[in-house]
Amino acid sequence: MSQSNINSLVEALKFSPDNIPLKLHLAETLFQANRIDEAEFHFNELMQITNDYNVKFKFAQLQFKKGAYSVCIVILEDIIQHATKDKESLLLLTRALVEENSISKAVEIYTQIHEIDPLFTDEKLDNILKIKQEIQEDLYSEDEDEEEDHFLEKPTIDFKDVGGMENIKKEIEMKIIKPLEHQELYKAYGKKIGGGILLYGPPGCGKTFIAKATAGQINSKFISVGLNDILDMWIGNSEKNLHGVFELARRNKPCVLFFDEIDALGTSRSEMKNSGSKQLINQFLLELDGINNDNEGVLILGATNSPWDLDHAFRRPGRFDRIVFVPTPDEDAIISILKLKLKNKPIDTIDYNLLAKKLEKYSGADIEAVIDIAIEEKLEKSFETGIPEPISTKDLLNASKKHKPSTSEWFNTAKNYALFANESGLYDDVLNYLNIKK
Ligand SMILES: Nc1ncnc2c1ncn2[C@@H]1O[C@H](COP(=O)(O)OP(=O)(O)O)[C@@H](O)[C@H]1O
Ligand SMILES: [Mg+2]
Repeated sequence: MSQSNINSLVEALKFSPDNIPLKLHLAETLFQANRIDEAEFHFNELMQITNDYNVKFKFAQLQFKKGAYSVCIVILEDIIQHATKDKESLLLLTRALVEENSISKAVEIYTQIHEIDPLFTDEKLDNILKIKQEIQEDLYSEDEDEEEDHFLEKPTIDFKDVGGMENIKKEIEMKIIKPLEHQELYKAYGKKIGGGILLYGPPGCGKTFIAKATAGQINSKFISVGLNDILDMWIGNSEKNLHGVFELARRNKPCVLFFDEIDALGTSRSEMKNSGSKQLINQFLLELDGINNDNEGVLILGATNSPWDLDHAFRRPGRFDRIVFVPTPDEDAIISILKLKLKNKPIDTIDYNLLAKKLEKYSGADIEAVIDIAIEEKLEKSFETGIPEPISTKDLLNASKKHKPSTSEWFNTAKNYALFANESGLYDDVLNYLNIKK
């Protein structure tokens, strides 16, 4: 950006000195123009007036650039502890630690990056930290058993453990379990077998849970892949990883192959070129269609919080041709979740029916949070007496006042899609849930 642009930003700031975005823009512009001292001046001021993580992170970048590594480390540790443990912050922290020669700490942080993104590589850091080889060996082990251990599960839960969700169980039963058990009958009626189910809904409401229970239900293996696990910044690698996962499922049939975070395909990650993501989508469609490979015995389930981000091609027959809404747990489900989470804890007689009414619209995760709060408060009381007091209905009701359902944001977004982009009634279930008449 030119000097005149910088000048006009400075002018603009004179009129609104408290405009944080404007000030941040100026600070960043100066930083990019390599005018470090001036940038630092503005960042310093910003740090006084805002607690924003983004500002702090940029400030840390500037300190790194300046060579003030220890300052950089302090800021990043604060971000990681109190705001977000994202890849960028961890990466910059690793680099700063390397510069400070704190190698073992750097290795520790670098390992955390790999927990978020198992396939992450950075040539310079890999060489310095000499851990690349170990990590790569872990991931691309020639030893098939190890690979299988990594992805394959044998779930011990089945549909009995899933409270409520009757229509979803039925859908899974008819669409993917029955065809597996009665292939001949399906063939006799000329009914095509194949295709998967895409589960969507607010986070924490049992999508992963029911996918796992499906595998338990048919006593099969379960492979769960977060799409982010197979995304790789190297062109071509994501496709290879995806193919590998399908092959693993085909070798282990019958098998439930579950794709979590499918929407990650829609949002192209910064490292990934758009064309790369297109190729991955094509590869995914190819695998789903099973043209070159037989998918019989591979039950495919997917989950997403944002089905509207998904490429339409996924919804064609034989692919994810059933899209099923997983709402917040109904009363039965709430009761199961409560019982499950309170198992083996000191409890009074609990009025589950009452709680189920009060916890309407809470997600499974929210219910866990409510229980957590109740337990914490009970713990505090118990410190005085030294005796674990049982958790009562009242404790849980009180806790529920302190934790409101987290699902409303999701429903606000979903409502817009259901009202304005409801192609062939795709989101009718959401409208029903919200009591909105079409
Ligand atoms: N219907 C249900 N029955 C029993 N437990 C449930 C049910 N729905 C959700 N849960 C509990 O809530 C937790 C969060 O659900 P999860 O499947 O991870 O949500 P999602 O994948 O939709 O984000 C699960 O681990 C499970 O313990
Ligand atoms: Mg999940």
